[in-house]
Amino acid sequence: MIAPSILNADNLNLKNGIKKAVEAGIGRFHIDIMDGHFVPNLSFGPELVSDFKREFPMTDAEIHLMSDAPKVLVPEFVKAGADLIEIHYEAMSEEEVNYWLDYLKSNGVKTGLVLNPDTPVEVLKRFYSKLDQVLLMTVYPGFGGQKFLEGSDEKISRARELLDQLNPKIKIEVDGGINAETALIAKNAGAEIFVAGSYIFGSGDIGAQVNKLSEIVK
Ligand code: DX5
Ligand code: ZN
Repeated sequence: MIAPSILNADNLNLKNGIKKAVEAGIGRFHIDIMDGHFVPNLSFGPELVSDFKREFPMTDAEIHLMSDAPKVLVPEFVKAGADLIEIHYEAMSEEEVNYWLDYLKSNGVKTGLVLNPDTPVEVLKRFYSKLDQVLLMTVYPGFGGQKFLEGSDEKISRARELLDQLNPKIKIEVDGGINAETALIAKNAGAEIFVAGSYIFGSGDIGAQVNKLSEIVK
């Protein structure tokens, strides 16, 4: 599955860009929420998500929450209609990770835990029973258009091996620097969901980019 990140899309032409990707078969978008504190950048708020769900009710909104203020933001994104929310392991205490994963589950929102490049996959042992998916960052979060980090494929394989023991149903998603070449590397290592921002929205024909990437990861 491909989950296009709208971070680097043309913000003033967002609806049109999303529509093109939906017409090419996309069923889920990856919405990057940056708080200017956990990561040195700002992006969207909950209103973008409620607008998205109003315009595209059949399409899933996956929220990648890059914030260490879950108390302020998680309830707001749930209210806005998020279908899935991914929180960062590094952004809060383990107690808080557990609390927010439970909160999401009890509100009918799917869960994801995000691991930064330097966070070992073993932390998944403590949370796997509450997870629908795991997001492995293949760049340091904060900006679109970065290069897929070397060694990410080994980490993906290790995570896949571990999850196969814990719960094989949990899917691995990758985010950062995904293009035709790196998507194939990640896929061969065990990733099943591919976030792609600049590859899809960066330049050229959005529908054609979706088709090219779909062909590679199918
Ligand atoms: C980075 C974000 C990514 C980013 C992906 O912090 O989490 O989702 O927008 O963009 P590309 O595909 O350009 O790396
Ligand atoms: Zn992201």
